[in-house]
Amino acid sequence: MNILLIGGNGFVGQSLIKELTKCKIEISYLSRTQNHSISKDEATWIQGDIFDLNNIIIKESYDIVIHLIGTIKNKNLYSKLNTESVTETIKLCKKHNINKLVYFSANGGFNHYIESKRNGEKLVVNSKLDYLIVRPGLMYGKERLTSYFNILPIKFFSKLGIPFFKTVYPLPIEKVAASVVEVILNNTDSTIIEINDMK
Ligand SMILES: NC(=O)c1ccc[n+]([C@@H]2O[C@H](COP(=O)([O-])OP(=O)(O)OC[C@H]3O[C@@H](n4cnc5c(N)ncnc54)[C@H](OP(=O)(O)O)[C@@H]3O)[C@@H](O)[C@H]2O)c1
Repeated sequence: MNILLIGGNGFVGQSLIKELTKCKIEISYLSRTQNHSISKDEATWIQGDIFDLNNIIIKESYDIVIHLIGTIKNKNLYSKLNTESVTETIKLCKKHNINKLVYFSANGGFNHYIESKRNGEKLVVNSKLDYLIVRPGLMYGKERLTSYFNILPIKFFSKLGIPFFKTVYPLPIEKVAASVVEVILNNTDSTIIEINDMK
C-alpha cells in the first residue's frame, strides 16, 4: 500500500508516519517545507503547495491520500486551509487516480472553526471518492510540547460541565494515529472515526 500525506510534515503527520512505518507501508508527504526529523527511509518528501497543483510533481501511484492541512489559530485562514485546501486535494486525487481520501476534521472548537471543518467534510462526502472522516479532539504529544499546556485547564473546565470544553476532548496523538491506521488497514466500510473510536 502507498499513502500520500498532504501536509504530512506537521504534528499529526509525523505521528501517522511513525505508525504507518510499523506496518511497512510506503509513505510520501507533501508540504512546502521539508521536515528533517522525518528520515528518507520513513517517507519521501514531495515539495509542493496544494494551492499550486500544476507545479506538484507526483511520480508514484498512491492508494490513499490523507489530508492534514488546517488551522485553529488563524481565523483569517479557516476557510482557505480547513475548507478550500480540501477542494484542491480532491482535484489532486482525481488527477492522479487516487481513489480514497482521509480527511482530518475536528470534534469541537470555536464556531467558525468547526463550521470550516464541517464544510470540508461536505466536500469530501460529495467528492465521489471513497472517504474516511476523522474527528479528533485536541491532540497532545512530545513532538509539540506546547500541546501539554492546554490539557489540564481543558480537563478541569470539562469536568465542570462547560459544554465547549467537553467537545475539545484531549487525546494523545499516538492513540489517534493508531486508531486511524487500524481503520485504514482493516479496510472497513467505516466513513467516520469519532472520539469514542479513539479513546
Ligand atoms: N493538532 C490538533 O490537536 C488537531 C485537533 C483537531 C484537528 N486537527 C486537524 O488535523 C490536521 C493536522 O493538524 P496538525 O496539528 O498536524 O497541523 P500542522 O502541524 O500545522 O501540519 C500541517 C502542515 O500542513 C502544511 N501546509 C500548510 N499549508 C500548506 C499548503 N498550502 N500546501 C502544502 N502543505 C501545507 C504545513 O507545512 P508547510 O508550511 O511546510 O507547508 C504544516 O506543517 C489539521 O487539519 C488540523 O486542523 C488537529
